[in-house]
Amino acid sequence: MTSTIDRFAIANRLAGIPPYATAQLEVLRAAAEKKGLKCIDLGIGSPDQPTPPEVVERMIAALRDPSNHRYPGFKGKESFRKAIADWYGRRYGVDLDPRSEVLPLIGSKEGLAKLALAFINPGDVTIAPDPSYPVHHRGTLLAGGELALVPMRPAREFLPDWSEVPASQLARARMLFYNFPNNPTAAVAPREFHEDTVAFARKRDLILVHDLAYAELAFDGYRPTSLLEIPGAKDVGVEFHTMSKTYNMAGWRTGFVVGNARIIEQLYRVKTNMDYGLFGAIQDAAEFALSLPQSHVDALVALYQRRRDVVVDGLTQLGFPVIRPKATMYVWCPVPPGQKAYDFVADTIDRTGVVFTPGTGFGDGGEGYFRVSLVADEPVLQEALDRLRQAGIHY
Ligand SMILES: Cc1ncc(COP(=O)(O)O)c(C=O)c1O
Repeated sequence: MTSTIDRFAIANRLAGIPPYATAQLEVLRAAAEKKGLKCIDLGIGSPDQPTPPEVVERMIAALRDPSNHRYPGFKGKESFRKAIADWYGRRYGVDLDPRSEVLPLIGSKEGLAKLALAFINPGDVTIAPDPSYPVHHRGTLLAGGELALVPMRPAREFLPDWSEVPASQLARARMLFYNFPNNPTAAVAPREFHEDTVAFARKRDLILVHDLAYAELAFDGYRPTSLLEIPGAKDVGVEFHTMSKTYNMAGWRTGFVVGNARIIEQLYRVKTNMDYGLFGAIQDAAEFALSLPQSHVDALVALYQRRRDVVVDGLTQLGFPVIRPKATMYVWCPVPPGQKAYDFVADTIDRTGVVFTPGTGFGDGGEGYFRVSLVADEPVLQEALDRLRQAGIHY
């Protein structure tokens, strides 16, 4: 007698989660390459520049230190946590206790996803903008929670209006995730928006989670605000940072979370059950990276700013009504009228080999847009734009 049980039936918590957008793009890209097209991939936001050579040298030295070959310790090295706290003090004027208010992560994605597991029960609600970086929701879905998605509208310069959360969900809301400078819209938020968000979280007893992944990638003199600069924010919130973008260390998997000690303590508790912390040698190298002179960041910002201008100018010439972003490594652009985001992106890959991300990869609220990642040199970006022109793709 054969069993009626499907051995490979996946758990409900996974079945409800849509595939990750970048995985879908890989399929489209592979099909274009099979046809003989040489693809220009401006889909995933993976920095193309190398990690600073000094950081690599520091890593090589750290690899030779046998103390780094053991399990690294859940809390991270004291010296790395202190370097993070010092960087925060220098950069934002915010005091942090390196022992309780700082936690190194195996990339910020890891911490963002695991945080919800610490606080969300089935039936609890997490508030997040739509569109948004998928990991801001996925931990909640894996925990069996529910989402209250707040639209980001161009008419409001993509700033979500938290009062749109329906009362029935607000009563069950436990966490709010948000991120400015924003992936995918490249929008920035004024300090007052952060103040309003902190006030909303305090009033509603929410855990506030701000993701400042693009802290340093800001142009034309613009300086993003840290959540923790806002008075009272540390009572209710934490902020996530990554080494991936500022230091071109995406493959190293390193980031950190700072802020409210009670929130960090619970994330630490989840992590003690799921990982062993960040490789010690990477912590040594990341600590060193945080001490690099500002000129490193300035050069990177100048590079992205030039790329932004190439892409914005080129898309504008093709008739796209695109906004010149003040920060991030992305350009967020409306698709031609009457087209769906996914269809536009799939058709563009098929005809030109140029890969963008459909806005819907970040939620239904991304419909009508595509995202360009500024992860190629200027001549390559120019070639991508030329291919669009030659294929007759315009707004
Ligand atoms: C908003 C945002 N947060 C976090 C991450 C992931 O960073 P990490 O490499 O530290 O996991 C990304 C990556 O693109 C991002 O866009």
